[in-house]
Order: sequence, then structure tokens, then C-alpha cells
Amino acid sequence: MPIKSKLLLKLLSIMVFLLFTFEPFTFSTFAAQKNQCLKCHKNFTMHTKNIRSASKIGCGACHLAEQGKKHPKQKNSIKLKYDIPGLCYDCHRESKFIGQYIHAPVAEGRCTVCHNVHQSQFESLLISKTPDLCYKCHDKAKFTKKYTHKVALNSCGRRCHNPHASEKPYLLSLSINDYCAVCHKAQETGRHIVSLPAGHIHPIKGVPNPKNPTKEMGCTSCHNPHSSNFAKLFLSGQKCKRCHKYY
Ligand code: HEC
Ligand code: HEC
Ligand code: HEC
Ligand code: HEC
Ligand code: HEC
Ligand code: HEC
Ligand code: HEC
Ligand code: HEC
Repeated sequence: MPIKSKLLLKLLSIMVFLLFTFEPFTFSTFAAQKNQCLKCHKNFTMHTKNIRSASKIGCGACHLAEQGKKHPKQKNSIKLKYDIPGLCYDCHRESKFIGQYIHAPVAEGRCTVCHNVHQSQFESLLISKTPDLCYKCHDKAKFTKKYTHKVALNSCGRRCHNPHASEKPYLLSLSINDYCAVCHKAQETGRHIVSLPAGHIHPIKGVPNPKNPTKEMGCTSCHNPHSSNFAKLFLSGQKCKRCHKYY
């Protein structure tokens, strides 16, 4: 036992020694970098409020001083270590931003249209809250008609669409029908649409949507997932006549 704890003590002191000498990973480095750059760039913080993480990423984790140039006297005296988004993938796993479906601005590597790299008053270093952030590029009017699907609109973070990439269409985590069924179990089979004799159920998948034959029937063939001018989020005032002649 005593031998074991002596060994532990030795290991521990080596680790402490390393902690305070191994340059990029010490709190003192953080402080030094903080002093050096923050002397003039007073409003800059360190990319994350988590001090443990922040201690690893001083300004120098992303910015490099150009050899032989004086900052700030000379132009381009400080450059980025790598271009965006390569810079981000230096620390964030690239695989999270790749998928069968990639959100256009992510595919273009424009991380900073949504994130402020240094600091933000919003979670995830976002430039603004969702869904306002989304309305920067997506037409707000489509999402704010008379009847709104409040749940969807209030949580437009990862809970509905992955803002980066996904294996499913529309950046969802599940296929559309499965996704709706997470909350609307009772409507999952389509039995709610109309009472048919002999246990027949109105088709909700596996047949083409007559209004858009390139797509299969699904919950969104009849309901708008975001908002609508018709009750129950119907796509139109004609519940059945949109697709059928006789009912
Ligand atoms: C002596 C004050 C001072 C110090 C210290 C300083 N900067 Fe600057 N920095 C400036 C000024 C002034 C500008 C120019 C601002 C402008 O043009 O609006 C600037 C511009 C920049 C830019 C913009 C890109 C460019 O070159 O035009 C970056 C990035 C930058 N600084 C990073 C840093 C980093 C990282 C450090 C620490 C290693 C640092 N600065 C230290 C004063 C300073
Ligand atoms: C995680 C990477 C990262 C860290 C850490 C980081 N920066 Fe930056 N910085 C960037 C990127 C990326 C840009 C360019 C932003 C853009 O293109 O919109 C930038 C731009 C800047 C600019 C010029 C543009 C502006 O916003 O005024 C200054 C000045 C700057 N950084 C200073 C600092 C200072 C000081 C620190 C340390 C406190 C620091 N940065 C830490 C990534 C980083
Ligand atoms: C030098 C390493 C490094 C680089 C480069 C880097 N990050 Fe980070 N980033 C971190 C660390 C560490 C965290 C904090 C993670 C944690 O606390 O779990 C973080 C957190 C984040 C967060 C989440 C903050 C939160 O509150 O959840 C976002 C968003 C982010 N980074 C975006 C970017 C973007 C965009 C780039 C490229 C412009 C980038 N990062 C480059 C290390 C880095
Ligand atoms: C269209 C806006 C948008 C773009 C573009 C974008 N993000 Fe994000 N990002 C978000 C939102 C929204 C969240 C918060 C997700 C949540 O709340 O679950 C987030 C969260 C994050 C996080 C923290 C959560 C996590 O997944 O670890 C990181 C890191 C991140 N983004 C990095 C990046 C990088 C790197 C890029 C560029 C390749 C990028 N983002 C481009 C909107 C965007
Ligand atoms: C910088 C602009 C920009 C921002 C900000 C933005 N988007 Fe997008 N988004 C696009 C573009 C461009 C497309 C592709 C064209 C289209 O379908 O409208 C797209 C497409 C989409 C798609 C359809 C993807 C597909 O596979 O068909 C969804 C879902 C989406 N965005 C959700 C969001 C959400 C949620 C937010 C907010 C967190 C957001 N977007 C913020 C630009 C943006
Ligand atoms: C996170 C849970 C959740 C998911 C996922 C969800 N909904 Fe909803 N939905 C609700 C809640 C809660 C309400 C009632 C309050 C409201 O309108 O937001 C509702 C309301 C509705 C209504 C209106 C009901 C009425 O009586 O007016 C329809 C139609 C609807 N959802 C269809 C869908 C469809 C289609 C999907 C898939 C695209 C879906 N929902 C996904 C939770 C969800
Ligand atoms: C063929 C058109 C159609 C399809 C497809 C469809 N619905 Fe409906 N939905 C309706 C009709 C019709 C009603 C009932 C309206 C009424 O009785 O006033 C309704 C009502 C609802 C309601 C409101 C609560 C209720 O039962 O009245 C919800 C929630 C809903 N549907 C969810 C879904 C989900 C989830 C899917 C996919 C699994 C789906 N719908 C597929 C036509 C459809
Ligand atoms: C978005 C288009 C669409 C809407 C809206 C729609 N249906 Fe259908 N309906 C279909 C499709 C597609 C079929 C399957 C046709 C086929 O198999 O040839 C179908 C089949 C039916 C069937 C036959 C089911 C069977 O198993 O024999 C009935 C009855 C029916 N619909 C009634 C309705 C009623 C009532 C409404 C309004 C509440 C309605 N439909 C709304 C597309 C729609």
C-alpha cells in the first residue's frame, strides 16, 4: 500500500509540474495571452465561458503573428491560423458538419454567419436567438401565418432541424412522419383523417402525393409544419377537394 501511494504521489507531482510548464495548456499561458492582446482588444473574450476549455485556447490558438511584421503598425501582421471552416475543424469534429444533407451556409463554410467566434450573449455563441437567426435568410412570413405550430417555432434548435447537417431530408433527425409521431402518436396511422368502413385507413405513406407526384404522401401533404392561414395547419381551405373530386 505505502509503495503504491508513494508512486501515486510521484505521478501526481509530475502531472502538476507538467500542468504548469507545458506551454499551451496552462492557466498562466491564458493569463499571459490575455494580457498581451487584451491590453488593446479590450472587448474580446476567449470563445468559451468555460475556463477549463478557455485556458487551452488563448488568442494564439486561432491567430498567428506574421513573422517580421509589427502589430498593429503593419497591415496583415496578424492572420488566422487556417481559413474558416478548416480553423474550426482544428478543434471541432468535422464529421458533425457532414451528412447526406448539409445546410447550405454550412456547406459553404460560412460558420460566422450564425456564430460570433469570440463572444455572444446567446447560447452556443450564436449571433442572435433562434428562430430570429433563421429569419435572417428564411422568409419570416411563411412561419408566422394566422395559426402557428408554436412548439416547432419555439424550439428551432436541434430539436427540430439540425442547423448543420443530417442524414434525413429537411435536416430533421427522423423521417417526417416519424418525427411528427414523436408528439402526435394518436395521428400516426392516419386513422384520424376520415372514418372509412371495414377498418380501411386513409393512406399517409407509400403512395404518391397527387398534388406533387415527385413526393410521397405524408403528414405534410395536408398540414404545414410551421404555420397556416387555415385551422389545424391545413395547407388549404379544401380539406379533401384538393385531391379528391367527390369528397
Ligand atoms: C498595442 C495594441 C494592440 C495589441 C497589443 C494587439 N493588437 Fe491587435 N490590433 C490593434 C489595432 C489598433 C488594430 C487595428 C484595428 C482596426 O484597424 O480597426 C488591431 C487589429 C487586429 C486584428 C484585425 C486583423 C488585422 O491585422 O487587421 C486582429 C486579428 C488582431 N488585432 C489580433 C490581435 C492579437 C491576437 C493580439 C495578441 C497577440 C493583438 N491583436 C494585440 C491593436 C493591438
Ligand atoms: C476560436 C478561434 C479564435 C480565438 C480563440 C480568437 N479569435 Fe479572434 N478571430 C477569429 C476569427 C475566425 C476571426 C475572423 C472573424 C470573421 O471573419 O468574421 C477573428 C477576428 C478577430 C479580430 C478582427 C475582427 C473583429 O472581430 O474585430 C480581432 C481584433 C480578434 N479576432 C482578436 C482576438 C483576440 C484579442 C483574441 C483573444 C482574446 C481572439 N481574437 C481569439 C478566431 C478566433
Ligand atoms: C483551438 C480550438 C478551437 C478552435 C480552433 C475553434 N473552437 Fe469552438 N470551441 C472550442 C472549445 C474548447 C469550446 C468549448 C467546448 C466546451 O466547453 O464544451 C468551443 C465551443 C464552441 C461553440 C459552442 C459554445 C457553447 O456555448 O456551447 C461554438 C458554437 C464554437 N466553438 C464554434 C466554433 C467555430 C465556428 C470555430 C471556427 C471559426 C471554432 N469554434 C474554432 C475550441 C475551438
Ligand atoms: C445557420 C446557422 C448556423 C451555421 C451556418 C453554423 N451553425 Fe453552429 N450552431 C447553430 C445553432 C442554431 C446551434 C445551436 C444548436 C442547439 O441549440 O442545439 C449551433 C451549435 C454549434 C456548436 C455547439 C453544439 C455542437 O454541435 O457541438 C458548435 C461547436 C457549432 N455550432 C459549430 C459550427 C461550425 C464549426 C460551423 C461552420 C462549419 C457552424 N457551426 C455553422 C447554427 C449554425
Ligand atoms: C445564412 C443564411 C441562412 C441562415 C441563417 C439559415 N439558413 Fe436554412 N437555408 C439556407 C439556404 C440558402 C438553404 C437552401 C435553400 C432553401 O432551401 O431555401 C437553407 C435550407 C434550409 C432547410 C432545408 C434543407 C433541405 O434539406 O431542404 C432547413 C430545414 C433550414 N434551412 C433550416 C434553418 C434553420 C432552422 C435555421 C436557423 C437555425 C436556418 N435554416 C438558418 C440559408 C440559411
Ligand atoms: C415536439 C412535439 C411536436 C412535434 C414534433 C410536432 N408537433 Fe404538432 N403540435 C404539438 C403541440 C404541443 C400542438 C398543440 C399546440 C400548438 O399548436 O403548438 C401541436 C399542434 C399541431 C396541429 C394543430 C392541431 C389543432 O388542433 O389545431 C397539427 C395539425 C400538428 N401539430 C401537426 C404536426 C405535424 C404534421 C408534425 C410533423 C411535421 C408535428 N405536428 C410535429 C407538438 C408537436
Ligand atoms: C390526407 C390529409 C391528411 C394527412 C396526410 C394527415 N392529416 Fe392530420 N388531419 C387531417 C384531417 C382531415 C384532420 C381532422 C380535421 C377535423 O376533423 O377537423 C387532421 C387533424 C390532425 C391533427 C389535429 C388533432 C385531430 O386529430 O383533429 C393533428 C395533430 C394531425 N392531424 C396530425 C397529423 C400527423 C402527425 C400526420 C402524419 C402522420 C397527419 N396528420 C396526416 C388530414 C390529414
Ligand atoms: C394531399 C392529397 C389528399 C388529400 C387532401 C386527401 N386525400 Fe384521400 N387519398 C389520397 C390518396 C393519394 C389516396 C390513395 C389513392 C390511391 O390509392 O389510388 C387517397 C385515398 C382516399 C380514400 C380511399 C381509401 C381506401 O383505402 O380505399 C378515401 C375514402 C379518401 N382518400 C378520403 C379522403 C377524405 C375524406 C379527405 C378529406 C378529409 C381526403 N381523402 C383528403 C390523397 C388525399
